[in-house]
Amino acid sequence: MRVIASAPGKLMLFGEHAVVYGFPCIVTAVSSRITVEVEKVDSGFKIEAPQVKDVRFIEESVRFFKEKFDIKTGLNIKTKSEFSSQYGFGSSSAVTAAVLYGLNKLFSLNLTKRELFNFGYEINLRVQKVGSGFDIAAAIFGKTVYFVRAGKIILPLKINELPLVIGYSGIKADTPKIVQALKLKIEKNKRNFFSIFEEIKNIVEEAKVNLIKKNWTKIGQLMTKNHQLLQDLGVSTKKLDQMCQAATEAGAYGAKLSGAGGGDCMIALVDEKIRERVEKAIEKAGGQVIKVLPHALGVRIEK
Ligand code: PMV
Repeated sequence: MRVIASAPGKLMLFGEHAVVYGFPCIVTAVSSRITVEVEKVDSGFKIEAPQVKDVRFIEESVRFFKEKFDIKTGLNIKTKSEFSSQYGFGSSSAVTAAVLYGLNKLFSLNLTKRELFNFGYEINLRVQKVGSGFDIAAAIFGKTVYFVRAGKIILPLKINELPLVIGYSGIKADTPKIVQALKLKIEKNKRNFFSIFEEIKNIVEEAKVNLIKKNWTKIGQLMTKNHQLLQDLGVSTKKLDQMCQAATEAGAYGAKLSGAGGGDCMIALVDEKIRERVEKAIEKAGGQVIKVLPHALGVRIEK
């Protein structure tokens, strides 16, 4: 017996880094997905995951699930990814979510998404040690969610449109390393960094309201302001700054880096009429435009 499940990647819209310290963030799921086939076999455990950069997330998900539900059968797991793990779309959390959802169906456990999130978050911490869990929430719940660390709040936002341009900087970011480095800086000057986090928090709260209202001008301004605060945290790079500047100069409502910084992607909010112009400007600044859609569906069974 076998089941095929898939889960989306993610992009952070607002509030990265601050979310690690208990402040809220907003994350959107993207249309690129990872598909996982889980098959019950008599014995053994085989993984075929050519595009997954860290199979520990699969191994740990299976170990966790087998222990928790006293599962004794063997399992084969195969994965297929629509996106490169280079982009920072969260391939590890997407594969974790898809494996858990597949196992849930395969063993008819009827677990809720909330339970699956809790499991996924624990698995993530076991493997990676750091992280707010926002990526697991996006992979499981999908769409666009307002999120507080460890799933203290997971609130899907009622939006139906989000005209984003996504640009890859060409550099793979090492998220745990950047989070760790920032932690050391914060320990030395807590007051200063927490006042930046407070400002980021206010941006997230304003964005939450304005995303629903589709107040693009305001959201764009909030994105650019959030980017400046990320620069103040010291996590942006020259390349990301140039790509964001190019996007706004080409007429985007606003732009910011997305995720840990140090590389990966930036996002720009645009009027559809000037999408192409902004895309060209990002490319001219040395970025690669990635055609994925935000606000995608969460984990699901394919077959
Ligand atoms: O680098 P990404 O896209 O995985 O985003 C990291 C976001 C952080 O807030 C820096 C870390 C986290 O787990 O929330």
